[in-house]
Amino acid sequence: MSIPYEKQILIIDDSPESIELASCILKRSDFTIRVAKSAQSALKLLQFQIPHIILLDVTMPEMNGFDFCQLLKNNVEYKKIPVVFLTASDDEESIKKAFAIGAQDYVTKPFKPAELIARVNTQLKLMQRTEDLENAYKSLDSFSYSVAHDLKSPLLSIKRLIDFLLQDCNGKFSSDEKTLAENIQEKTREVTAIIDHLLEYSHAGSKEISINKIDTNKIFFETYNELHTLEPSRKICFHLEKLPSIAADPILFKLLCQNILSNALKYTRKKDPAIIRVTCRQTEKYLVFSVTDNGAGFDMRYVKKLFHVFERLHSAREFEGSGVGLAICQRILQRQGGTAWITGKPDKGASFFFSLPCKAADEL
Ligand SMILES: Nc1ncnc2c1ncn2[C@@H]1O[C@H](COP(=O)(O)OP(=O)(O)OP(=O)(O)O)[C@@H](O)[C@H]1O
Ligand SMILES: [Mg+2]
Repeated sequence: MSIPYEKQILIIDDSPESIELASCILKRSDFTIRVAKSAQSALKLLQFQIPHIILLDVTMPEMNGFDFCQLLKNNVEYKKIPVVFLTASDDEESIKKAFAIGAQDYVTKPFKPAELIARVNTQLKLMQRTEDLENAYKSLDSFSYSVAHDLKSPLLSIKRLIDFLLQDCNGKFSSDEKTLAENIQEKTREVTAIIDHLLEYSHAGSKEISINKIDTNKIFFETYNELHTLEPSRKICFHLEKLPSIAADPILFKLLCQNILSNALKYTRKKDPAIIRVTCRQTEKYLVFSVTDNGAGFDMRYVKKLFHVFERLHSAREFEGSGVGLAICQRILQRQGGTAWITGKPDKGASFFFSLPCKAADEL
């Protein structure tokens, strides 16, 4: 059994001399060493214990180091283990290839003991920092979830009380009192919307992803119709190009469409007619969707802010909103290997783009 503060290193190399040398150096720095002489036996060891770091040779029988590294980086359980190549192959091609398939470092033989120890320690520190950041992020997320969740029920009570007051005391209120009560009702509605959005943001980050076939044309069309029925009198030209079917999480994809289209509809509210166009093109690795509108647009100088929670470029008086929608979109996409970006020009409209890996379509 390993002791928690011990750092476990797995050395995978077919040469006994190389193993001996690296082990000797690292043992002096209090690392615990395990060795495997081939990729196959390394895989067996990994089933019993995940090491903190792997030192990997390139040339080995059966499976070479590059293929083994690729295999690790494609495996959810193993992909976070830092891989440092430790090899005599010092040509540029090998170095490039190692980093391209996800290795964290590349040390060539002959190496100095201090160099090997320093590089191993650097990777361990980096891994620890990443883990700390991930944990801090998770606790912050569950903190905001519980705050939002706990605020919701007193807010609903305030809403019910004020609805009751307005109904029951109608006629007894002076016009000033009625305006005051209506203001409270409106503010309660706004805060409830912010809290609902924060809960959705949290849900977008924590919901277990369940991949299914999605007809993106149908979802965009349905979502648009649902949103349009809320403002039936508006004149809107909605162009939906033929979109592909993809493999993704249907609930999250629907939430994504709701946020994108609600922005397109909201920020075109002052245009007659509003024009909204949805397209999709395929690049070598990604499907790139775009939703373009002819609405209020925005100043590109502030574009970097927009995917952060509560950042808005329009005042609530001009366009209502809580500034969480785009952050929800980015979360949904990043969890499925994609990303989102937006472009715009004041009063000339905006284009929201998002990409998903092509495998989202190939997996069908
Ligand atoms: N289609 C668009 N046209 C112009 N500005 C946009 C558009 N989409 C987003 N923005 C700008 O980006 C900001 C952030 O958008 P986001 O959807 O996150 O929040 P919101 O629409 O203000 O509120 P909500 O949380 O209700 O969606 C908006 O406040 C707006 O300034
Ligand atoms: Mg929005």
